[in-house]
Amino acid sequence: MCGIVGYIGDQKAKPILLAGLKRLEYRGYDSAGVAFIKNGDFQIERTQGKLSCLVDKLAGKDFEATIGIGHTRWATHGRPDEINAHPHYSKDVVLVHNGIIENYKKLKDDLIIKGHQIESETDTEIICHLIQDFLNQGYDFQKAIRSALKELHGAYSLVILNRNDNQRIYCARKGSPLVLGFNNGENFVASDIPALLSHTNEVAFLHDFEMAVLEKTQVTFYDFEGNSIEKERQIIQWNMAQAEKSGYKHFMLKEIHEQPRVIADTLLGRVDLEKMNIWLDDAGRLMKKFVQKPDFHIHVVACGTSWHAGMVARYWIENLAKVPVSVELSSEFRYRQPLVGENTLVVAISQSGETADTLAAIRESKKMGAKVLSICNVIESSIPRESDVTIYTHAGPEIGVASTKAFTTQITVLYMMAVKLALQKKLLDDQDIQDRMKALVELPNILKTFLRQYKGLDMMTEYLRNKEHCYFIGRGIQYPIILEGALKLKEISYIHADGYAGGEMKHGPIALMEDGVPVVATLLKDDLYDKMVSNVQEIKSRGAFIMGIITQGDEDTKQLCDLYLEVPEASMDLLPFVSVLPLQLLAYYVADAKGTDIDQPRNLAKSVTVE
Ligand code: AGP
Repeated sequence: MCGIVGYIGDQKAKPILLAGLKRLEYRGYDSAGVAFIKNGDFQIERTQGKLSCLVDKLAGKDFEATIGIGHTRWATHGRPDEINAHPHYSKDVVLVHNGIIENYKKLKDDLIIKGHQIESETDTEIICHLIQDFLNQGYDFQKAIRSALKELHGAYSLVILNRNDNQRIYCARKGSPLVLGFNNGENFVASDIPALLSHTNEVAFLHDFEMAVLEKTQVTFYDFEGNSIEKERQIIQWNMAQAEKSGYKHFMLKEIHEQPRVIADTLLGRVDLEKMNIWLDDAGRLMKKFVQKPDFHIHVVACGTSWHAGMVARYWIENLAKVPVSVELSSEFRYRQPLVGENTLVVAISQSGETADTLAAIRESKKMGAKVLSICNVIESSIPRESDVTIYTHAGPEIGVASTKAFTTQITVLYMMAVKLALQKKLLDDQDIQDRMKALVELPNILKTFLRQYKGLDMMTEYLRNKEHCYFIGRGIQYPIILEGALKLKEISYIHADGYAGGEMKHGPIALMEDGVPVVATLLKDDLYDKMVSNVQEIKSRGAFIMGIITQGDEDTKQLCDLYLEVPEASMDLLPFVSVLPLQLLAYYVADAKGTDIDQPRNLAKSVTVE
């Protein structure tokens, strides 16, 4: 998730680009850059680090150009340094990109054979040279772009300049957002509305497989075949604060709704339906070494929500790959002289990559001879830097302190790991592999549908908003999910919330049940459904108020619940994805009803970088 800005008009482009990038800094900020065209030549400036580093570098430099493009990066391929920063360029092409090109390695090899000099580690630079290659064959600029797009697999929004034409900006979109802004005698393009609002509120959204050509006094639209198309213009009514949250009231709600897309982004380039394989690069190669060890086991270390992700993974990895998994809080692991060694693959899960306890846990592990595979959302943060291999989630920046999209992209990676290990151990037949991969690829659409049409949260919110306590129960793979639900509710609404395994209630917690006590129960049609029904009946008979997360259309279970929320059916393995979303939303709406500071709850930090 990166920030893109483009401008063409009569004003100097530099201040407009920098101000626009500032508005998009929440989308990515590990490096930044701008490019201008002046007298038939590119002027390109890039810096590692936050946008302020670029502003400092450009201070005092007067760029006369009235056409330019800019970018703030959230790295997905290649270190966050200057050489990997955008804009990238070839002889006649300079561009910025948001997205992931799945087949960039093959394209890169072909281009190098043709003599193209590739400087960076990014997938983006490949696109410049691909367009250049078609230009070298005599194609006109637009046709060269269209021909290059046909070669790309993956998601991209591109904003492109031609060294020899300072009257046009070219844009193309497939899978990553681009919005055009219109004003008299000047036009804009950006990856998100906040970059445009101080200039215009008249916009048009580029859709997948569409291109736009911006000139000072007009913007023309085409499809990828070169046919011109008409685009509807819209007037944005948001103020700036609303725009940064895409119109959502809080970043947390925006990030909950981003989950289908960022899960799809995390799957991109890794789930190969044709070859029926999961590609995890160095991590896959390290896992393959371990599956050959007789007493190979996995030890997960993490904190908070990331620890819950590890607990979900244990069910998948043990059931699918028959590899023993233990899951431990980093803060406990680091002080107990853990018995890990050369047969242990320590899996460190961390959104921020900076959590002190998890960082200490991997240092401890390495001292004891274990290898470390980290799952992280921030490229080149401390934990990946000290791990042997890292699998990155592609959730983009998570602004809300309460982790949501980081969690679902973590369990996306963990499920891919479980399938990959099972493949490496040859434990899945072709049909099984195909079924699981198709279910995974279809998951984002199932979640998108749910997020569009869920019902029943308002009554649950009303019931909970003034309660002091709330209990969550679930069994099997739903147990870590209800723990996550309890954590969400307590950390943003400040209601005391605890989660218990359904089978554990009679070992003590059932003493807490009395008239009206709110209990959220996951009652999905899985292999432990009947057990959960009897657990719920036990606590209902003691007066508990049951709020059930149930499978869509399950009429029987509705009778059991005082309130219920239906979630769509999904393959058994993937039920954690569909059950965690309503729990995130429930926590959000209860906290919103209570008026707490949802994005920055009291006493909490987004990343706990100290003990
Ligand atoms: C979860 O909503 C919290 N933000 C917190 O528990 C968080 O998951 C924990 O601090 C771990 O952070 P990390 O994933 O960045 O390591």
